[in-house]
Amino acid sequence: MDSNVLVRRSFTTGYFRIYKKYYLHIIALIGFLIVIQSRTRVVFTTASIIYQYSPNLHNVSHNYTYLMKCPSENSPKHLSVHPHQLVNMISIVLQSSSLMYCPVPKIATKTLLNIILYVHVRDLIHHVENNWTNVSTNRAQIEKMINISAFIKDLQFNGVVIPKSEMPKSAVEFLHMYLNILQFGTINTSSSSKLINPWRLRFTFAFPYFRLNNLPSLAEIFTPSFNRVIFVRHPFERLASAYKERIATLAKDRIEPEPEYDAMRTEICQQRVVSQRVRSLRPTQDSCMHTVPSFEDFLRYILTITHIPNGIARMNYHWQPYSVLCQVCKFKYNFIGKYEMFNDDLSRFLKLYNISNWNIERRNGASGLSKRDYQAYYDTLPDDLICELIKLYRDDMRLFKYRIEDYVNRTTLFQNCKWLTSALS
Ligand SMILES: *[C@@H]1O[C@H](CO)[C@@H](O)[C@H](O)[C@H]1NC(C)=O
Ligand SMILES: *[C@@H]1O[C@H](CO)[C@@H](O)[C@H](O)[C@H]1NC(C)=O
Ligand SMILES: *[C@@H]1O[C@H](CO)[C@@H](O)[C@H](O)[C@H]1NC(C)=O
Ligand SMILES: *[C@@H]1O[C@H](CO)[C@@H](O)[C@H](O)[C@H]1NC(C)=O
Ligand SMILES: *[C@@H]1O[C@H](CO)[C@@H](O)[C@H](O)[C@H]1NC(C)=O
Ligand SMILES: *[C@@H]1O[C@H](CO)[C@@H](O)[C@H](O)[C@H]1NC(C)=O
Ligand SMILES: *[C@@H]1O[C@H](CO)[C@@H](O)[C@H](O)[C@H]1NC(C)=O
Ligand SMILES: *[C@@H]1O[C@H](CO)[C@@H](O)[C@H](O)[C@H]1NC(C)=O
Repeated sequence: MDSNVLVRRSFTTGYFRIYKKYYLHIIALIGFLIVIQSRTRVVFTTASIIYQYSPNLHNVSHNYTYLMKCPSENSPKHLSVHPHQLVNMISIVLQSSSLMYCPVPKIATKTLLNIILYVHVRDLIHHVENNWTNVSTNRAQIEKMINISAFIKDLQFNGVVIPKSEMPKSAVEFLHMYLNILQFGTINTSSSSKLINPWRLRFTFAFPYFRLNNLPSLAEIFTPSFNRVIFVRHPFERLASAYKERIATLAKDRIEPEPEYDAMRTEICQQRVVSQRVRSLRPTQDSCMHTVPSFEDFLRYILTITHIPNGIARMNYHWQPYSVLCQVCKFKYNFIGKYEMFNDDLSRFLKLYNISNWNIERRNGASGLSKRDYQAYYDTLPDDLICELIKLYRDDMRLFKYRIEDYVNRTTLFQNCKWLTSALS
């Protein structure tokens, strides 16, 4: 017990020190991915984390089961999730609500994170109102340190309007205001609202115990009453959506700057230029700045890393298969939501956490493209490329029952792609 507390303390202080550094990165709008990836290097201890799980999946709360069986573990009781695995950095845990959530980019993570923060703030209010009864000393200490003025500045920086007359005067007032902001995007229902990006809120990162990688013991995550939550989407649609938003949107059209992906767009363009050296007329770097690479060029670019050993583990998490990103077979998620039935599954999730009055229609970052729009991205791709995508995403499809033919219908693929039969079986 004592050593756990010590570990937690050092995580806590280390976390805040490191966090301050990263916050500057966020302010500099370098983006979430960089934060995550740098944290990977700095925050982690060298030891592997050993997870213990209950082999009985409890699936009372969801309709979907894993279609393909996960490979059986060598040691059925213990499994190790390596510290460098991104799931440790990105996953969120609410112990009080028995909730672990692995956010898969391009699958409503902002909406879901808003809801999870909402549950968290609800807990904080309960703690403050009950003088931290039943709350561990460590946690109470962190929660008592909430710097209201710093968080208000942060909200204002993120576009939330808080008139002087509405400034909260106590922690409870502040938290109630925060609850409204998370739910409505505004301090109260009568003022005009703005959708905020929870990944850019300082508040999201202020509670170290809220992050999977800071939990001293992870065994409880695998107890039967714990909800391990993942939302999934057809991998081909997720991929096209990532391309559309991260690569095919020019800097001037972005809502929030993403210099990392602007640089990647230029790199894809230049790579293509190099591969076409035979052409006498080569586009200059400047022309690459304003050129949107085709979906095919983008795919060839992201697939190069999959050809090297362990390459898939190092893919950008916007297109890394979620079976890898979220270590699906290790964490054995027991609440599975599907983007294709998002409203139903979100309702189920809200009910599970007793949240009423959430405006389901109000979606943060929804693209507005239809299924047909996404299918069109695949119409002109050559078979060899589609075959490589099938190879890359076959576990995502098999585990969560997604069909290739919902996005690609070609008889020639059956003859030319050796991964196809195993992906469909
Ligand atoms: C989980 O779902 C499977 C398949 O629908 C079912 O056979 C099994 O009984 C369920 N388990 C529980 C604990 O409900
Ligand atoms: C999932 O469960 C809900 C409620 O139990 C039900 O209305 C819905 O039809 C189910 N969906 C599927 C795909 O089975
Ligand atoms: C709250 O707890 C602190 C110590 O944890 C105690 O000193 C204080 O009297 C308590 N206040 C109330 C209102 O119970
Ligand atoms: C503290 O825990 C006890 C036992 O679980 C529970 O009955 C009580 O309501 C809790 N008190 C608060 C303020 O949460
Ligand atoms: C709280 O935040 C404000 C604004 O960022 C800062 O000026 C102040 O020093 C902070 N207070 C504490 C106690 O950290
Ligand atoms: C709602 O917020 C606006 C300012 O954004 C304020 O003028 C108004 O009084 C608030 N209404 C209530 C009911 O608090
Ligand atoms: C759900 O919330 C309502 C009102 O906030 C409350 O009365 C009820 O006890 C809660 N139920 C659970 C299971 O937490
Ligand atoms: C492929 O064919 C199936 C069955 O006819 C159909 O449901 C699906 O929408 C088609 N997919 C595309 C991309 O046209």
